[in-house]
Amino acid sequence: MGSLDQQVVIITGASSGIGAALARACSEQGAQVAVAARSKERLTRVAESCSGETLVVPCDVTVGAERRQLVDAVLARWGKVDVLVNSAGIGYYAPFEEIDLASLRTLLEVDFVAVLAMTQEVLRAMKPAGRGLIVQIASTGGLIAHAPNVSAYLAAKHAVVGMSRGLRRDLEGTGIRVQVICPHLTDTGFFATGLGAEAMREVADRLRGHMDAAAQVAEGIVAEMGSDKFIVFPTDRSRKAYERLREAL
Ligand SMILES: NC(=O)c1ccc[n+]([C@@H]2O[C@H](COP(=O)([O-])OP(=O)(O)OC[C@H]3O[C@@H](n4cnc5c(N)ncnc54)[C@H](OP(=O)(O)O)[C@@H]3O)[C@@H](O)[C@H]2O)c1
Repeated sequence: MGSLDQQVVIITGASSGIGAALARACSEQGAQVAVAARSKERLTRVAESCSGETLVVPCDVTVGAERRQLVDAVLARWGKVDVLVNSAGIGYYAPFEEIDLASLRTLLEVDFVAVLAMTQEVLRAMKPAGRGLIVQIASTGGLIAHAPNVSAYLAAKHAVVGMSRGLRRDLEGTGIRVQVICPHLTDTGFFATGLGAEAMREVADRLRGHMDAAAQVAEGIVAEMGSDKFIVFPTDRSRKAYERLREAL
């Protein structure tokens, strides 16, 4: 068993990519892991690939009743929530003038509003317990303009980082900590499923050789979970990309 022994961890977006890899990595460290996303079938496969106890909870994070049911199911099963990882997210690739407002609202609902609301949902369990950890999967795009034609996505991820800064300040002295994870390009289903994925496919295929694997990102996150770092670059590549791009962008 490892550093997360007997810790109850909720991971949204756990049916794929970084969330799925993180479910396996947390499980490996002894955590009891609740995996949440919309696809029950894919969640079940992820749960089967974990080495420890898991709970599969189908949940659309944009729906308030489903967020509540997720936390209630975890409390009913294990009686506490130690860690929330907000990994559910989608991309939006579009030149600025072509950003469609309906798509923008969908993006903000998933990538920002649901992150804030899921965090509120677990605080009702963490506050009375006087301990907990909130882990937001943001992006290097939450700090800098890491890629072209993703202004809407940058706005959502910058909002997550700003909200988390405020939350960290508001939670001082409560025993509840906040961390923001900033992966860079990571080889997951992200580029094939987001808004504007058609237009992004060619770019993503070209960049694949420069991407981290989801398992590397998960390993980097677990290594820093609960450390003093607020902003976490989970891999060398993500830290170097940030340092290279921040001067220019
Ligand atoms: N890949 C990258 O290059 C990269 C880089 C930096 C940051 N990130 C961030 O990392 C996080 C994970 O992305 P990923 O790369 O792992 O992408 P991914 O493989 O596409 O996984 C995204 C996950 O989000 C879930 N999801 C999407 N909409 C949802 C909704 N409404 N309700 C519940 N779950 C929902 C998906 O599951 P269902 O479809 O089953 O609901 C899936 O499990 C995202 O926040 C992304 O912005 C990714």
